[in-house]
Amino acid sequence: MKKIIVLASGSGSNAENIIKYFKDSANVKVSYLLSNNPDAYALKRAESLGVNTMVFSRESFYNNGEVLKFLLGSQPDLIVLAGFLWLVPQDIVKAFPDRIVNIHPALLPKYGGKGMYGDKVHNAVLQNGERESGITIHFVNEHFDEGNTLFQATCSVEPGEDRASLVQKIHALEHTYFPKVIEQLLA
Ligand code: GAR
Repeated sequence: MKKIIVLASGSGSNAENIIKYFKDSANVKVSYLLSNNPDAYALKRAESLGVNTMVFSRESFYNNGEVLKFLLGSQPDLIVLAGFLWLVPQDIVKAFPDRIVNIHPALLPKYGGKGMYGDKVHNAVLQNGERESGITIHFVNEHFDEGNTLFQATCSVEPGEDRASLVQKIHALEHTYFPKVIEQLLA
């Protein structure tokens, strides 16, 4: 059985979608959902689907090695960042080469980097009058949104489109493709 550990900071619709996608799989299991945010709704979603959860502090992620130790002990085949907002430290990146993936709600390298997450990305896309946006699934390195791209999918941005409708389009793409890309990586 291949094991996935999901990291999420917020609502967790992608985390829930991934957990559900693999719920009856004979080959892949989401073994844990970890969050840096004790109030993340992602924790509730995971718990209600029977997935173990853990909240970790900045100290244990960046300074005392506790999260790294936990991850090494859990031996995940893949670590999935699903709306996870902290930069992954170098020791964790190094311990899991090409085994950490992130989803970003735009077509990288555009609209990526520090501080570009969630609604901030969509606002920038709309303000710049882009006619197209989309999603990027990429390997994680020690820089925000810079690891090798694995997959992109696009959607149109219509004249006068508002943020809510763009968010809906992006989430639809994410929910369709993220579990499939994960499945392919683990095959
Ligand atoms: C997703 O759209 C994801 O692409 C984005 O946060 C959202 C989380 O939604 N991630 C980033 O912006 C990372 N830079 P969710 O909590 O409903 O899955």
